[in-house]
Amino acid sequence: MKVVGISGSPRKDSFSTDILKNGLEIFQKNGWETIHFDIPKLNIKPCTACNYCHQNNECFLKDEVQGIIDKINRADALIVSSPVYFYSITGQLKVFIDRCQPIWAKRFNDYKPKPILKKRPSIFIATAGSKMNDNLFLSSKFIIKVFANTFGFAEPKNIFVVETDRQEKFDFSKNKIEQVVLDIINLNPADGI
Ligand SMILES: Cc1cc2nc3c(=O)[nH]c(=O)nc-3n(C[C@H](O)[C@H](O)[C@H](O)COP(=O)(O)O)c2cc1C
Repeated sequence: MKVVGISGSPRKDSFSTDILKNGLEIFQKNGWETIHFDIPKLNIKPCTACNYCHQNNECFLKDEVQGIIDKINRADALIVSSPVYFYSITGQLKVFIDRCQPIWAKRFNDYKPKPILKKRPSIFIATAGSKMNDNLFLSSKFIIKVFANTFGFAEPKNIFVVETDRQEKFDFSKNKIEQVVLDIINLNPADGI
């Protein structure tokens, strides 16, 4: 079984990336193969809306994105992490997600996807400096849900961590990530959710 982790924080010692890595470790200890892409460290070009992918099912730009897409397509589970930036995800992560337009664009062609009876599980981890409020994770949660669904993953299980900038308040949520990961590991592999 394989899990792909996609992290979006550019920060050294990032909280959200740490939580994602904790999650990947738990998968690994349980015999899963893990792959981690630290998106801000990669040289990913932004989508230019040339629409090449609408006819060709692949991107005109050549960089590391196609390799990441292939790994996501083959994964049994997906974890994405990002800090909240201006009530959204980081720019670096959004640039990567926009480059996944070829996956979305398949529906413009003759491509008839097989109906997905059982969706693969996914997790979204988001951290924010401020206190919780109704809108804090609204945008990032929706973006990652659309991203996961585009690849045929189920709606992510969300792990939201707030007040990260107040160290005395910061709860690393190790227990939460552990529980969410173990729930996925304990699914019947053939079942999905
Ligand atoms: C450019 C920028 C924008 C941010 N915008 C918000 C915001 O809108 N709301 C918030 O609560 N925190 C905001 N923060 C704080 C980060 O979300 C917070 O520090 C987060 O925990 C960092 O996660 P990381 O350690 O994984 O990078 C912002 C930080 C930066 C650098």
